[in-house]
Amino acid sequence: MEPANIIHVAHLSKNFGSLKALDNVSFVVRQGEIFGYLGPNGAGKTTTIKILCGLLPRDGGEVMIGGVDIAADPVRVKQRLGVVPDESNLYPELTCQRNLEYLGELYGLSRSARQARSAELLTIFDLTAKTATPFGALSRGLKRRLTIAAALVHAPDILFLDEPTTGLDVPSAKALRALIQQINRQDGVTVFLTTHNLFEAEALCHYVQIIHQGQALAAGTAQEIRRRVTGRKTLEIAFDGPVPGDWWQAPGYQGRPPVPVNGRWRLETAGQDLHQVLTFLLRRAEAAGVRIIDVEAGGANLEEAFLAILQEQRQGKQENP
Ligand SMILES: Nc1ncnc2c1ncn2[C@@H]1O[C@H](COP(=O)(O)OP(=O)(O)O)[C@@H](O)[C@H]1O
Ligand SMILES: [Mg+2]
Repeated sequence: MEPANIIHVAHLSKNFGSLKALDNVSFVVRQGEIFGYLGPNGAGKTTTIKILCGLLPRDGGEVMIGGVDIAADPVRVKQRLGVVPDESNLYPELTCQRNLEYLGELYGLSRSARQARSAELLTIFDLTAKTATPFGALSRGLKRRLTIAAALVHAPDILFLDEPTTGLDVPSAKALRALIQQINRQDGVTVFLTTHNLFEAEALCHYVQIIHQGQALAAGTAQEIRRRVTGRKTLEIAFDGPVPGDWWQAPGYQGRPPVPVNGRWRLETAGQDLHQVLTFLLRRAEAAGVRIIDVEAGGANLEEAFLAILQEQRQGKQENP
């Protein structure tokens, strides 16, 4: 059976004065998936999370969580949600255990239930050695971990994570990603996470929605997104001698004409098989009696990729209104 859409967002809009922070955004999140909301800084990611979690009112559109409108029944919906904000909301002077127990109390768990849940979470998050350590004394990576544990005190079935690995060193970020996957796999928690890191989206997410300047752009599996983005790779190649000005006009090269830049040739490999392009380059070098002395592959950066996808979508709309 197809998993149900646990989050359904349609035509969502939010303005801050004249700024359209969210402009007609629609997407769905399926139950049990890790959903990546990917976009550069200022795209509207945090604003979306805040609206979905009932922390900020929307100006228009629909937000249904498990079939219930968050604006109509915030208490019921919030019981199902755990939120990890970009800045932690825990008490620095309280120990890890006390922070969790205190939150359990706020959620109405009995004393024994919140003690048991806190102990369980400290174990899952590999923080038992820090039980009696004040939150404020933890490293950045462990702080992030406890903040996620805290969001799970009331056993929600949807977890919102706002840029969970931003600011962490590489090993802490990696450990945290593994933990997010574990929570998703073992407990079936649906994860909605924002990131500006394409690599992270690819490593973690089953489905990715790109957002840019308040608009929802391409959506698809991480592999589909990667193909669209890495299809935009450029290659810069340098030969050790002169090549004919039209050296690339031979069978086997389907891209746009390469452009000479500072003694090199810049090729766009969009839509081409990289292996074929490289084979072609070797053959042409041999035919011209020159050697390849340098090849540099440059991926389009994410910002450029977003803009290119945006442009593509606008053109698509003009062609098929
Ligand atoms: N409370 C606010 N008042 C005015 N502008 C805001 C407010 N919150 C966010 N914005 C603006 O809305 C846009 C989207 O912000 P945000 O959702 O925080 O982006 P992201 O999380 O993707 O970096 C940005 O241009 C930001 O400056
Ligand atoms: Mg943000």
